[in-house]
Amino acid sequence: MNTKIVRLGEGNKDEEVLLEAGEILKAGGLVAFPTETVYGLGGDALNPDSSRKIYAAKGRPSDNPLIVHIYRTEDLYKVAREVPKEALQLAEAFWPGPLTMILPKSELIPLETTGGLTTVAVRLPSHPGARRMIECAGGFVAAPSANLSGRPSPTTAKYVVEDMNGRIEMILDGGEVGIGLESTIVDLTVNPPQILRPGFITSDMLKEVLGSVENDATLFTTASGQAPRAPGMKYRHYAPKGNLVIVQGENDRVISYVNEKLQEAKGAGKKTGVIAASDTAGRYAGDVIKTIGDRRDEEVIARRLYGILREFDDENVEQIYSESFGGEDEGHGGLGQAIMNRLLKAAGHQVIRVN
Ligand code: TXA
Ligand code: MG
Repeated sequence: MNTKIVRLGEGNKDEEVLLEAGEILKAGGLVAFPTETVYGLGGDALNPDSSRKIYAAKGRPSDNPLIVHIYRTEDLYKVAREVPKEALQLAEAFWPGPLTMILPKSELIPLETTGGLTTVAVRLPSHPGARRMIECAGGFVAAPSANLSGRPSPTTAKYVVEDMNGRIEMILDGGEVGIGLESTIVDLTVNPPQILRPGFITSDMLKEVLGSVENDATLFTTASGQAPRAPGMKYRHYAPKGNLVIVQGENDRVISYVNEKLQEAKGAGKKTGVIAASDTAGRYAGDVIKTIGDRRDEEVIARRLYGILREFDDENVEQIYSESFGGEDEGHGGLGQAIMNRLLKAAGHQVIRVN
């Protein structure tokens, strides 16, 4: 298939492009598009064939449900069988924006879209191009992240092209995304509501609206032995091809431990890499050193993380050590939770404490 790649953000041409994307989606085709979190791979959420095509294009297991994207809050009533008052409060506080809610699904949404579940994930993105495209497509766009299954979610169109060129009808290039990590997922079908995936909308922000909210037991540890409640979180996701290990502790100790391990890996003939903050990056002796940003600037770290994991793949790095970012445990209620959750998953939960 020949994939049409078109830039967004070039003034009055946008409307024409978004209308064309809408037509492709209505006809059962697939369009990758930017959102404020990561790029999405869109198909008509009401068309079972479109959902099947999404799974095929991503190489994704079809028991992993898709998020239904809408462009106006009132459509929540069409997607969900019941809309509890908590959903309306969250919509009021955080939509449009990077929050996905799990609700009982309506008859309108086919089981192909929800991976066979009777619940549905709904999100109203804030990216203006995304919203207009959803409207042009008839109002309901199923969209997982636009990566091949198992790869980090794409934060620029370049990465979408890497994974999806030739597999889908169209890619809309809206430049680099704003947030860089996927939306927060909150399950409103349980009491108290549960966070199934942390994101830019933090648990502190959710608590302000909901009063209480819990974390899925698997967000930061595998100790419970349970499976994550968001089916997609159980796959070894976000992962670079190389082996990634997180090292926690006081800076000097982390640096000397990692440098020792880098020597060992080099001795074994492996290409090595490090993910470090700006203030310590200069002190590592690996083949590829990636500076992720100022340790205190969580928004920059969030935006850079997936790109860095992909760069390690491009450079065939085999052994990677990462400093710890965003607070070291779930006691921290900010964006750091989302960063740590993704980093832990990328590392397959391999963490070493050096003090
Ligand atoms: O920011 C985002 O949410 C991006 C952009 C494109 O909107 N989308 C995204 O979709 O991250 P995806 O498919 O890569 O991740 C959706 C996650 C998966 O882990 C999936 O298992 C979970 O949401 N999910 C979807 N429907 C669910 C449901 N009914 N119950 C529990 N988990 C669900
Ligand atoms: Mg994904």
